[in-house]
Amino acid sequence: MEKLNRLQSGIEGLDALLKGGLVSGASYIIQGRPGSGKTILANQLGFHHARNGGRVLVATLLAESHDRLFQFLSTLSFFDASRVGAEIQFVSAFDTLENEGLDEVVKLLRREISRQRATVMVVDGLLNARSKADSPIDTKKFISELQGHAAFAGCTVLFLTSSRLDDGSPEHTMVDGVIEMGEELFGTRSVRRIQLRKTRGSGALTGLHECEINDDGLVVYPRLESLYGRPSAPDSADLTRIASGIGSLDGILGGGLHSSSVTLVMGPSGIGKTTLGLKFLSESTADAPGLHFGFYESPQRLRLKRPIPGHRYPGDGRQWRTDHRLAAHYRRSAGRAGCAIAAPGRGKGHQAPVHRQLERHDPRLQQPGADHRFLQRTDERTACQGRHGVCHVGDA
Ligand SMILES: Nc1ncnc2c1ncn2[C@@H]1O[C@H](COP(=O)(O)OP(=O)(O)OP(=O)(O)O)[C@@H](O)[C@H]1O
Ligand SMILES: [Mg+2]
Repeated sequence: MEKLNRLQSGIEGLDALLKGGLVSGASYIIQGRPGSGKTILANQLGFHHARNGGRVLVATLLAESHDRLFQFLSTLSFFDASRVGAEIQFVSAFDTLENEGLDEVVKLLRREISRQRATVMVVDGLLNARSKADSPIDTKKFISELQGHAAFAGCTVLFLTSSRLDDGSPEHTMVDGVIEMGEELFGTRSVRRIQLRKTRGSGALTGLHECEINDDGLVVYPRLESLYGRPSAPDSADLTRIASGIGSLDGILGGGLHSSSVTLVMGPSGIGKTTLGLKFLSESTADAPGLHFGFYESPQRLRLKRPIPGHRYPGDGRQWRTDHRLAAHYRRSAGRAGCAIAAPGRGKGHQAPVHRQLERHDPRLQQPGADHRFLQRTDERTACQGRHGVCHVGDA
């Protein structure tokens, strides 16, 4: 079985969606409404290709001047003005399209591919070419003639268009791949999405994947379950226990948490979930390292919650990473849900009698505002349920 040569996009996450990158010498449509990031994607790929020894031709069929384009691209870290006019060449075909028509644009671009010895070509503004075509056949001819010459020259082509072309459009049927970019509103939040609608001759991670544009350009976050649908390593679940970091809790749990298990700690705000998690992480060693994955609290803030004074806190002197893909490592190493711990807070109806009983045994709990919580544990292995004690959130 033959493997197709791949051209890496250099865009974080996109090559994973493409199972290694674009197919070299193939042609792709990148579509999405204005502002969805098509020009950024194509130029980011172009500059990456140029940095790695490739040669790039960016042809625009748009009225927008190159100066304006450079002004906007120069705010992004991948833009390197020193390569413009050398490994990466920008050509405007707008006047040729307006005055001489599609055939002349094809001739111009063929000449430029050869002159530039381009191995990647971007054609920005396919919609303009379409509007100049008398019939769908003309559009097909335009794409096929460019494709033919580019493929002969070993050049990968990206056609950018701001219209959402149908699956059955002549453009879609002719190219090897279609990448769609978009933005959706979830309530008041706007989320950028990317989807591979067609990848001829190659598998791909289909479906919608989130992406974002920042000062470094486009970053794609493949959906975790599609990326790690098949574990890269066999499940390592066994019957050993690992310390939770809280000796008394380990007693309740029958020796600690099951290794390779997943535990959900839930409860109202301020009850001690993070503290419990940090105690757990404080058991980390160089041989069994821990990973903290958080949405809200910065490492600096977490250090303020240092659970054991004087104890070496996981992450001290090590690199803290907040890359959300790290969640995938957690997911892969956690094979099975073992037990769930819930700390539902004080005085919730059915717990009140136990609470009163505990108060009688521990005078500290009788003081107003005493910080005590019930732990409720469900262990699928022992199938037992019940309240197991009182815990304090304090210095120790
Ligand atoms: N530094 C940045 N940080 C975050 N977002 C940015 C940054 N620079 C640009 N953007 C976003 O990128 C968008 C522009 O992307 P781009 O020009 O690639 O879109 P496009 O799909 O080519 O649009 P058009 O169809 O109009 O040509 C802007 O609307 C803005 O939201
Ligand atoms: Mg654009």
